[in-house]
Amino acid sequence: MNTIKIGLCGLGTVGTGVVRVLQDHQERIRHKLGCEIEIVKILVNDLAKPRDVIIDRKWLTDNPDELVNNQDIDVIVEVMGGIEQTNQLLEQALNQKKHIVTANKDLMAVYGQKLLRLAKENHCDILYDASIAGGIPIVRTLVDGLASDHIQKVMGIVNGTTNYIMTKMTDEGLPYKEVLQEAQELGFAEADPSSDVDGLDAARKMLLLANLAFKMELNLDDVDVKGIRHITSDDINFAKSLGYTIKLIGIASMDDHKTEVAVEPTLLPQDHPLALVKNEYNAVYVHGEAVGETMFYGPGAGSLPTATAVVSDLMEVVRNIRLGISGNTYIDPQYERQLKTDSEKYSRHFIRLDVEDQAGAFQEITNVFTTNQVSFAKILQLPGDKDGRAEIVMITHKISQEQLLKSLQALGELAVVERLISHYRVEGEE
Ligand code: NAP
Ligand code: HSE
Repeated sequence: MNTIKIGLCGLGTVGTGVVRVLQDHQERIRHKLGCEIEIVKILVNDLAKPRDVIIDRKWLTDNPDELVNNQDIDVIVEVMGGIEQTNQLLEQALNQKKHIVTANKDLMAVYGQKLLRLAKENHCDILYDASIAGGIPIVRTLVDGLASDHIQKVMGIVNGTTNYIMTKMTDEGLPYKEVLQEAQELGFAEADPSSDVDGLDAARKMLLLANLAFKMELNLDDVDVKGIRHITSDDINFAKSLGYTIKLIGIASMDDHKTEVAVEPTLLPQDHPLALVKNEYNAVYVHGEAVGETMFYGPGAGSLPTATAVVSDLMEVVRNIRLGISGNTYIDPQYERQLKTDSEKYSRHFIRLDVEDQAGAFQEITNVFTTNQVSFAKILQLPGDKDGRAEIVMITHKISQEQLLKSLQALGELAVVERLISHYRVEGEE
């Protein structure tokens, strides 16, 4: 087979990048594969829209059948987004024995396991490295690079929009809304940016990473998700004064074959490698039993970085076709889905309270923590913004989620505690 023919679904930010990478790196790709990759059809919504890459306009269609039922097409490259309709399109394509490359984490988080099984039944590949952390080859790293190891923890910044917002709020003191708008203008944010700021985009990526790392079949409902909407400049400044930076962090860990997957605003020591990841950049830290700590850093979004990952996957599909080894992307889960209970989830926590500034208040608060066997690493008390009030900010030592929830409930019942202002997980200090 001297030419592999592809049908490209989508010619937006990523699709345009895919065309560019295929055109600009044509010689290199041909040299590495020993064959040509040729685009024969491109699915779009609007046939009349001006495109800012050089294409033959006869490739364009708004009819998906011209791709999925096209006998000439070997591989479908899906970079159009969407879940239900796109799932149907890809199922149809797999049943037509077409291989798939996708950048669509929304789809893979919901239908990924089903599509991977269907691909195997049809002896087809489905590769999706571009869907997690854009240009960072993290799927390949987990599947191949660290294949021999037992991965115990994956922790990362996997959403560029929220990292951009947190960086600008922390380093430049800019307000949340202004920075979100900037991220939208720069093209990192999803069409509906609530999936970025409420943590869903990161949750989908962490689910895919956890399933790959731990060889389990977890669902999106198994991921605990909190976003960044409610983080205030006071939270950021208090965290700073204690030596921490707040980031939206995804954490997946496995102990005794039980897992926890969470996405939440998390305090990291200011010199932690993930705390130093700025703007829209992503980074994924992987801890393996044998390898120890590794970290992968790079652009998590954008036209060319994401397209690079798409085209690398496409090249792997082509290699597999040529070697006759397609259809092995789905691997049976090795472990049963088992989740940690609240008494098995351990971490440190930052807690901020608005309290009555009166004799005995502090003692009542410490009594709650003593009852729940919570001890502190750091405590700070400052005058509150109203007379007769104070703010207490503390960092606990490692406690279980159960201890945390019981303590917060008991604190809320104390008359001296006006309100629990905020609480965040703290990571990076073993
Ligand atoms: P985009 O700029 O909105 O482009 C979407 C493209 O798909 C457009 O060309 C659009 O056609 C076409 N399209 C959408 N729905 C269609 C439908 N129902 N039928 C036919 N054509 C349709 O999106 P994007 O940013 O490139 O993202 C594409 C995918 O990559 C998404 O799954 C996204 O999550 C993922 N991704 C994006 C990035 C990034 O940095 N942007 C990074 C990683 C992963 P028209 O051009 O005619 O409107
Ligand atoms: N909205 C996503 C982000 C795009 O900000 O990371 C890449 O998946």
